[in-house]
This record gives sequence, C-alpha cells and structure tokens, in this order.
Amino acid sequence: MGRIKVVDHCDWRMAMPDSSLLSLLKGKRVPIATSCGLGSCGTDMVLVVQGQENLTPIGTTEARTLAEMEAPANARLACMARLMDGDIELEVPEDSLQV
Ligand code: FES
Repeated sequence: MGRIKVVDHCDWRMAMPDSSLLSLLKGKRVPIATSCGLGSCGTDMVLVVQGQENLTPIGTTEARTLAEMEAPANARLACMARLMDGDIELEVPEDSLQV
C-alpha cells in the first residue's frame, strides 16, 4: 500500500499501488484538468515533491511532451505516471487545475 500527499489539497492518504496519478488525484477530489489521457497534451502536469522513485519510469511520449513544455525536472504527467508502491508527495500547479 502506498500513500499520497498533495500540497494545498490533502495530507497523507492511502493510495492503491498501480494507480495512475490522475486517478489518485481525482479520488482525492483534486480538481486536476485533463484532456487527451495519452501523455501528449501536457494538461495534467504535476510536480513531484518527493517519492519520484516510487513512480513508473517516464516513457517516450511523456518525455517528449515534457520536453516540448520545457517542464521542470521533477514534472510528470498525471495520466501517464503510476504509483508503484510507497509514498508520493505532489504539487499541482495552478495551470493544471480546472477553472
Ligand atoms: S491528459 Fe493529456 S497528457 Fe495527460
């Protein structure tokens, strides 16, 4: 079992391993914006505060999208990154929230 914390949204909560960050965030009622669900639009970029090692590796599509966005090194796309196990702390930038 893992745990997730989202800065300014929720403190540590249980999280099922093998869940996408997108499903975990929606499950914690964080109003993250989404669009393609395929790692190509970058709408759901999140920043990993701690626990990067507990996420699945970045794939080709996600890496290309993050590079095109000139995203910070700790950025992941919530629809693509999955929690393997352990704890993850995220920050969701304002631009990644639904308006
Ligand atoms: S929803 Fe488009 S990259 Fe995740």
